[in-house]
Amino acid sequence: MSEQGAPTYVGLIGWPVAHSRSPAMHNAAFRALGLNWHYLLLPVVPEDVGDAVRGIRALRFAGCNVTVPHKQAVVPFLDEVSPTARAIGAVNTILNRDGRLMGENTDAEGFLRALREAGFEPRGQQALVIGAGGAARAVVYALLRAGANVWLTNRTQARAIALAEAMQGVGHTPPRLVPFARQAVQTTLETVSLLVNATSVGMVPHTEAVPLPEGVRLPAHLTVNDLVYTPRQTRLLRLTADAGARPVDGVGMLLHQGAAAFEQWTGHPAPLDVMRAALEDALRHS
Ligand code: ATR
Repeated sequence: MSEQGAPTYVGLIGWPVAHSRSPAMHNAAFRALGLNWHYLLLPVVPEDVGDAVRGIRALRFAGCNVTVPHKQAVVPFLDEVSPTARAIGAVNTILNRDGRLMGENTDAEGFLRALREAGFEPRGQQALVIGAGGAARAVVYALLRAGANVWLTNRTQARAIALAEAMQGVGHTPPRLVPFARQAVQTTLETVSLLVNATSVGMVPHTEAVPLPEGVRLPAHLTVNDLVYTPRQTRLLRLTADAGARPVDGVGMLLHQGAAAFEQWTGHPAPLDVMRAALEDALRHS
């Protein structure tokens, strides 16, 4: 129920949120479709998460995106959480369906759409994922559901073990652990066809950092998807190109997780070209 002709609001709950490119991407899409919708930045400190989520209902927002550090904290305040979001253990999108708040996760879907758009079909492939945080959980879930065999490595092995355990039963085989050490990672890279960096290593301001153990060489047969998008061209992706392997940057996942949220909120197909151009423009001017 909304007032005739009244604007519809969505936004991003997080702390901090000022750096986000999501308003540029979504507002461009709303304009392109002639929708009187508006995407707002909603900085919310951790102790206010419950009030903020209840506010979605009270203020009749159509929904929200959720980012760090609230992706898990919003869950107790929602009426329902999708099986995907529950398996990943994080909500990045809330939908307000006539006052019922539904938690979704579009990161996994966004990652898969971006990978496929880059020409990589994960079904039946071997993939090595680096990382064990929220991004890694979405990627591992997506790859397992898409029928890939997943190898997992992380600086802190206990977190990789916890992630692998949480993903039991998602694919036909659980993720296999690889010690975060030069020889073990090198051997794995010789057998996999996809490497995904799901850590924050290489992000500004530490742009010279590479998420691999010292001395690891990238084989030329690899596709390397770095989820870091600031900078767009990370050192890992430069090394990938230098090795004759195929780099895939992190902008695609950012775009497609947004497009999937847009589609769920509005019911319209996302105007991908408009969203991509707005996103790239926002990234260039930051
Ligand atoms: P997110 O939810 O964005 O994935 P996170 O939960 O903080 O963020 O996880 C960050 C990931 O980057 C983790 O896998 C982390 O490794 P640890 O589990 O060992 O902390 C990884 N990471 C961050 N800084 C790192 C560094 N300097 N070297 C190696 N891994 C790093």
